[in-house]
Amino acid sequence: MICLGIESTAHTFGAGIVTNKGEVLSNQRSMYTTASGGIHPMKATKHHLLLCDKIINSALEEAKLKLSDLDLIAFSQGPGLGQTLRVGAVSARTLSKLLNVPLLGVNHCVAHIEIGKHKTKLKDPITLYVSGANTQIIAYAGNKYRVFGETLDIGVGKFLDTIGRFMGTGFPGGPAIENLAAKGKKYIELPYSIKGMDFSFAGIQTKVRQLIESEAYSNNDLAFSTQETVFAMLTEATERAIAHIGKNEVLLTGGVAANKRLTRMLETMCKSRKVKFEVCPRELSGDQGAMIAWQGIVEYSAGKRQKISDTEINGKWRTDQVEVNWIK
Ligand code: ATP
Ligand code: FE2
Repeated sequence: MICLGIESTAHTFGAGIVTNKGEVLSNQRSMYTTASGGIHPMKATKHHLLLCDKIINSALEEAKLKLSDLDLIAFSQGPGLGQTLRVGAVSARTLSKLLNVPLLGVNHCVAHIEIGKHKTKLKDPITLYVSGANTQIIAYAGNKYRVFGETLDIGVGKFLDTIGRFMGTGFPGGPAIENLAAKGKKYIELPYSIKGMDFSFAGIQTKVRQLIESEAYSNNDLAFSTQETVFAMLTEATERAIAHIGKNEVLLTGGVAANKRLTRMLETMCKSRKVKFEVCPRELSGDQGAMIAWQGIVEYSAGKRQKISDTEINGKWRTDQVEVNWIK
């Protein structure tokens, strides 16, 4: 079985083609970026509308396949921005009708976890899912992916993007902050905001903004201190989850999983607890279509079917609301 997966929850329009063995035949994407300022939903939607057919065609070309070779179409049904989600949903419905193949809407967050499990061979991990819009500690328990800890306000990626904007780096700010932080030396004390296994970033964001505006510190030192503080919070919450849930594997995924400092902190903590730690391969940890295609295959193989009328997008679809039919 060959599945085309379409991703359009936010800044990225992606099309990936995956086989039922989990082999990624292609993974094409285009990300809406800006030189300064944050992501604008209308502009991201326009970007997706202009590029969607081109990206899908490139995915077919890369996989050396024709449209008629596709057996299943999967798309991100949520969570995300309503306007951008609709571009993917409409493309997917059109292709499914045109080719007369089944259509499945899948949950974007769960897709991040399943592709990570598949590629790292972890069986039942605690997942630290760190992206722009989402920051959650997730584990499977009682037929659902339960959220054991999460951000009480913004996602850590969005937080880094906003700090980047204050520093004038453009979008996305996460990689830029990582580069600045590598040149930072001095630790400037920042609020440390963790409540049980939950955490919040808004207060730290305000504090860093004040410090940037005070011009008393270099951006390098502020980026360094920001990373040290928020990544320590995430590591501490993950460690607490390990102690509480009692699983012996940790998976790191989402766009922020590309960050080397965060990876190192988690690695050190897991080693000391004798817990296996894996990071989702970088090309599959950010937003892209291959994870959506794989999720489509996983759910279709387990028997999930959807009518077109069930494929309305859900911008607020939470990880713990997903009916998990594929884990026995
Ligand atoms: P989701 O819809 O799952 O919330 P997303 O739309 O935010 O995902 P992703 O590609 O998963 O998309 O993550 C993008 C985020 O990852 C951005 O906020 C970006 O700044 C951040 N990011 C990317 N690379 C790095 C890095 N090296 N260090 C820190 N953050 C990074
Ligand atoms: Fe994502």
